[in-house]
Amino acid sequence: MLEKLLSLKNQVVNDLKKANTINEVNETKAAYLGKKSPLQELMSKMRDLSVEERKELGKAANEFRAFVEKELSKRITEINEEAINKRLESETIDVTLPGRKFRTGTIHPLRKITREIEDFFLGMGYKIEEGPEIELDQYNFEMLNLPKGHPAREMQDSFYIDENTLLRTHTSPVQVRTLLKAKGEPVKIICPGKVYRRDNDDATHSHQFMQIEGLVVDKDITLADLKGTLTMLCKKMFGENLEIRFRPSFFPFTEPSVEVDVTCFKCNGAGCSLCKSSGWIEVLGAGMVHPNVLRMAGYDPKVYQGFAFGLGIERFSMLMNSIDDIRHFYTNDPRFLRQF
Ligand code: FA5
Repeated sequence: MLEKLLSLKNQVVNDLKKANTINEVNETKAAYLGKKSPLQELMSKMRDLSVEERKELGKAANEFRAFVEKELSKRITEINEEAINKRLESETIDVTLPGRKFRTGTIHPLRKITREIEDFFLGMGYKIEEGPEIELDQYNFEMLNLPKGHPAREMQDSFYIDENTLLRTHTSPVQVRTLLKAKGEPVKIICPGKVYRRDNDDATHSHQFMQIEGLVVDKDITLADLKGTLTMLCKKMFGENLEIRFRPSFFPFTEPSVEVDVTCFKCNGAGCSLCKSSGWIEVLGAGMVHPNVLRMAGYDPKVYQGFAFGLGIERFSMLMNSIDDIRHFYTNDPRFLRQF
């Protein structure tokens, strides 16, 4: 019986060499140590042996069991190591391969120019305000001296949500909000943001576009302050080459009112389809804050005066970058956007 156990040892070693997976190792374990294994068979014959022989066989059986357990765990370690080595081989990284280019986006041209204009005004001590895009009729029109039924409301065709609420047609309601908040104190702010109008889209008009509002209210503010500030802004943004003109205009919330035009970059003032043969592109509206607007917001127009302006950000960017169609800003074509 002892010889049989000895020969089984060699057999175990041979079988384990052929076992290539943990499952196969477990099968070998069952074959040599399980209920139907030759070891169990030997043990069942124990009762026919003398005490002395039983002792010897018991010892040999324990040794055999320990031997098999050791061989099994050796093989399991080998199999695991082989698997790790195989993985390491197949997953090696070639550090000499050139890296793949990671494409990052660019800052949108409208955001870029907004930042530049913000920097210009922050440098002159202005604060940046924000206002909601869904606005009350009261702030968008009424408190800007445009009561219900006023014919000038037609200058800005609007998207109404209900009778008293609309998508703001300009950033000017932020004038009212800021003055009400400042409670009679001087104000010097700009406010960038989106605005909405029922305009037909064409090369220079969009139903959604961006404006930057500006408002200065203090004592002794004159039209000269307005003209100086806006001339400086236009020269900084467009350079000295493009000509600027102030043209008398009308807004119910300013008196007097002006509009600022810049020479059309496409035809250099000769007249083309972009500037509708005028040679000029209108970039902003402005004026001295109307006494009624000041009064409605709680300011005494005899003590306080102010100027305000609202500029079209797309128009600024078009002039600065020679972009001949406003729709490019909103079609998200990467070939356009990558240029900025
Ligand atoms: C206004 O919106 C006034 N709130 C501006 C203002 C503010 C005047 C404060 C006085 C005091 P206007 O409708 O002209 O004005 O628009 C101002 C600028 O927005 C225009 O000069 C133009 O640059 C731009 N703009 C107007 N309509 C469109 C449009 N549909 N698409 C793109 N830009 C536009």
